[in-house]
Amino acid sequence: MIETKLHEDVLEIIIANAPVNALGAAVRGALSQAIDAAQGDDQVKVILLRGAGKLFSAGADISEFDQPPTGCALPAIIDTIEASSKPIVAAIHGTALGGGLELALGCHYRLATPSAKMGLPEVSLGILPGAGGTQRLPRLVGLDAALAMIVSGSPVDASSALAMGLVDRLVDEEDFPAAAISYARILDAPRRTRDRQVADDAGAFDRFAAANARRIETLDAPKACIAAVKASVELPIDEGLALERKLFAELVTGAQAKALRHAFFAERAAGKIADLPADTPRRPIAKVGVIGAGTMGGGISMNFLSAGIGVTIVEMTREALDRGVGLMRANYEASARKGRLTIEEVEQAMGLLAPTLEFEALGDCDLIIEAVYENMEVKKEIFARLDAIAKPGAILASNTSYLSIDEIASATSRPADVLGLHFFSPANIMKLVEVVRGEATADDVLATGMQLARSIGKVPVVARVCYGFIGNRMLIPRQDNAYAMLLEGATPEQIDRVHTDFGMPMGPLQMIDLAGVDIGWHRDVDRIESLQDALCAAGRWGQKTKAGFYDYDEKRKPTPSPAVAEIIDEFRARAGMVARAISDEEIVARTLYTMVNEGAKLLEEGIAQRASDIDIVWLYGYGWPRHKGGPMFWADEIGLTTVVQGLERYADRIGEDFSIAPLLARQSDDEGSPTT
Ligand SMILES: NC(=O)c1ccc[n+]([C@@H]2O[C@H](COP(=O)([O-])OP(=O)(O)OC[C@H]3O[C@@H](n4cnc5c(N)ncnc54)[C@H](O)[C@@H]3O)[C@@H](O)[C@H]2O)c1
Repeated sequence: MIETKLHEDVLEIIIANAPVNALGAAVRGALSQAIDAAQGDDQVKVILLRGAGKLFSAGADISEFDQPPTGCALPAIIDTIEASSKPIVAAIHGTALGGGLELALGCHYRLATPSAKMGLPEVSLGILPGAGGTQRLPRLVGLDAALAMIVSGSPVDASSALAMGLVDRLVDEEDFPAAAISYARILDAPRRTRDRQVADDAGAFDRFAAANARRIETLDAPKACIAAVKASVELPIDEGLALERKLFAELVTGAQAKALRHAFFAERAAGKIADLPADTPRRPIAKVGVIGAGTMGGGISMNFLSAGIGVTIVEMTREALDRGVGLMRANYEASARKGRLTIEEVEQAMGLLAPTLEFEALGDCDLIIEAVYENMEVKKEIFARLDAIAKPGAILASNTSYLSIDEIASATSRPADVLGLHFFSPANIMKLVEVVRGEATADDVLATGMQLARSIGKVPVVARVCYGFIGNRMLIPRQDNAYAMLLEGATPEQIDRVHTDFGMPMGPLQMIDLAGVDIGWHRDVDRIESLQDALCAAGRWGQKTKAGFYDYDEKRKPTPSPAVAEIIDEFRARAGMVARAISDEEIVARTLYTMVNEGAKLLEEGIAQRASDIDIVWLYGYGWPRHKGGPMFWADEIGLTTVVQGLERYADRIGEDFSIAPLLARQSDDEGSPTT
């Protein structure tokens, strides 16, 4: 756990707790002992603290947050380090995160290799740096930089760390740790962070609030971070540290931190597939083919190009091909204008793209992703053609949103090589990929799909075949009920507001406007049988026609539409219905509880492996607020009995074939029973 090496008068204390040198109870105990022993050892003049392996330390052991505190507390160890009469130097390589960086902040000097990264990501887990980070960092780097690091949780690189005063000097990467030891040897006196004053800057908090207020409005942790940093200016350090501890203790047991921890572990769990051994072989993917250069094909291709993987993209017509490729270039160039890419990187990515009208050009691809119209006949025809030209062992994937991967695979002579790779729009940005496992999908094809998604920065979740897989299937009851409630008397604004107040980036009707009201429409303007038909016939196809459930201006800002209100009134009258007041509570039950209910069915049917996978789908595919953990976690928090009772209350309105998922009913019974 802790190793020591004496180099004449410099003692190296090395944190060796693979894989990330987490500061769990055993490490803390051993570290404390090593520090104490060094204090009493006359041979030791200077102490150098570093991590073994690839990094300094990734910080606390998060699994301890749900348990009562044990062993030496990190803040106490850091206080001992800071109080040491012998100089203690932190030598950082790889990363120093969270408690790892706080440990370094308590040291008297800090060195880093040029590739090192340092950060305090606690806020992303709903907490704050609780081992002095909020008091010591501002003393070293000033308020602006400290607020940015602590409230965003984003790490900084070594050169920024040097410029802001977080580290004292950079040391040679190749000669690490020897170069750090040589530097440590010349230090003769401790220099304590606590003795410094935070540079007074009265405007820093106002500036920060002006830039960030909206983003953090509903979040506990960033607000507590700011309060703690304020204390670094206003209070003596020991009082500041005490306040930090108090705020930490409040946050760590709070609902938001619990949800964020759930999200953290859920993401890791999603990578594991129960019946797929970890050592399942992967197929090498050096070249990717994409069929269709529309909304999805273009975005999907960009992921691979950005990761340095060549893409052959096939279209039906020159016009569609040019349009698709032009849009990809425009997207890259927009990123370059925002400073996210260099012009060279744009050219490099576009240089890896081979646009073509020749289907046969896909013959040498290791993976081919089909992203053409959502039509089974078209998709089967394409897969039959692919079967004839794809090389043996090539993986054949469909980006279908709803259709059966098994039926698509049946059009080939090699269903074992077929799977779904369901990206979310915009595909170059959204992190979710549902990896759809067909009846015949081979293990190595599934394992390759999961790994490949991760290699392009996505979060893959495995799903079995059903209509809409995990995410879109759960959208169905939400959408149906949103449409129904419009006729019953709710307005689009009311339904959407319930969702945005909840923390969703947009409501169900705003989402339909974004995706296209015309999706799934029969395209006959004279056949008006539903609200969707009426909107589409009136040219209200959503944001793309600047009119959908809302009117949109040039900047795509929505305003309520009197025309839509009229269409709804007309429809209601035609159906012989009278508008009634609909409560927000009914909207929650019919659009959120129904999703939970569908999620429970997905679990029962084995479509989703585990409840937390469903949460990841919603966090990364639809912007479910992370501090509410995902729909299944949220349902557990509010109580399944509440969900079931809400569903029962509106059961006769939710839909003709509505039924409560037996799993949900059972678990709610257990919840209510006094024995559990
Ligand atoms: N748009 C979304 O939000 C979204 C999200 C996830 C998944 N999907 C799915 O992705 C697929 C594509 O959707 P989209 O929104 O990109 O559609 P789109 O209409 O924007 O693009 C489809 C493209 O495929 C091309 N195409 C059609 N047949 C072809 C053929 N035989 N060979 C080559 N190219 C052909 C068309 O010319 C068109 O450019 C659908 O299955 C859809 O359900 C869409």
